[in-house]
Amino acid sequence: MSTVASTPQTLTDKGLGYKTHTIGGFTFARDEYFAHIFYPGGRHIVPIDAFLRSLMRDVAWGFFYGTVNFDNIFGTVNHYGTVEMFIGLFNEAYRSGNRHHVETFESKDLKKVFEEMLDDWVHEGFDPFAAPAETGTPFGAKKGSNRKAITRQRLVANRMVGLAGDLAYRDEKQFPLNRSFQDIPTDKPEIHAEPGFEKDVHAYNFFNYVARSDVTWNPSVVSCVKDSQFCATTEEHILPIIHGNDRVEWFIQATDEIIWDVDDRATGKPRAKVVMKAGDVAAMPADIRHRGYSPKRSILIVWENNDATLPQQYASGKLTPYPVEF
Ligand code: PHB
Ligand code: FE
Repeated sequence: MSTVASTPQTLTDKGLGYKTHTIGGFTFARDEYFAHIFYPGGRHIVPIDAFLRSLMRDVAWGFFYGTVNFDNIFGTVNHYGTVEMFIGLFNEAYRSGNRHHVETFESKDLKKVFEEMLDDWVHEGFDPFAAPAETGTPFGAKKGSNRKAITRQRLVANRMVGLAGDLAYRDEKQFPLNRSFQDIPTDKPEIHAEPGFEKDVHAYNFFNYVARSDVTWNPSVVSCVKDSQFCATTEEHILPIIHGNDRVEWFIQATDEIIWDVDDRATGKPRAKVVMKAGDVAAMPADIRHRGYSPKRSILIVWENNDATLPQQYASGKLTPYPVEF
């Protein structure tokens, strides 16, 4: 029986095969069940399955838009070139007790450490992008690695899926229809373009494309017009991050149901529960954080505005945090 508190060193010395990862004042160590985060002023602990799923998204999305909260304590804020890593920055109790801690890094430096940690901590049989029911366990001592799963690139169409030279359709062999979408229609749309416009008119079966995604909570850009990005994704279980917006984003629920927790971005105080059924459309305001729950695999379209001037326009109050007044 040990009466001594664990430290990065004692965790590393357990002989589980995992390394400790350090950047600035932050040190990350893992054991069988948890990620341990040590920082000047304290320590934090996150279940390893949740931690790896969040880390995977933060890496794959290049720190995403705005804030990626791994939970209500730890996360990153994207400043598009630099990134803040924080403890308690958006937690009312940590802030009012002055117990928060924030450090700024060059994005490429933090990305490197996160990638190394992911590579070291994700072992054989666990895919952080997969639904929990479709993958193995991340728990226990290190065994092998799963580089194929963690180096997947986010899919981004230049203009639209299926156009010449753009993202290709998904075939049954490489991307079988997911078990939850066996009932979706897979027929092709008919295209009747005026002569001379054959290259400009395009349509494809969106459901047949998205329902073949082998990952969850990982929007891929399926069509893009200037800053308007249509990002489609299949969702099952819990969105691994709590996303703090720096702009408005729209959700279109294409199938099934997602239940969203919507909280104040700065404090985490609950603001709304949004239950979205197939066909529902919602705008997530620019001053909230949100996390979705999808009991059955569902298709969601996330409509993002990629305009780089938006965070400043919302932060300065030039734009209201909500997009429409009724
Ligand atoms: C979001 O934060 O808005 C988000 C992220 C990933 C998803 C869906 C929504 O798959
Ligand atoms: Fe979001």
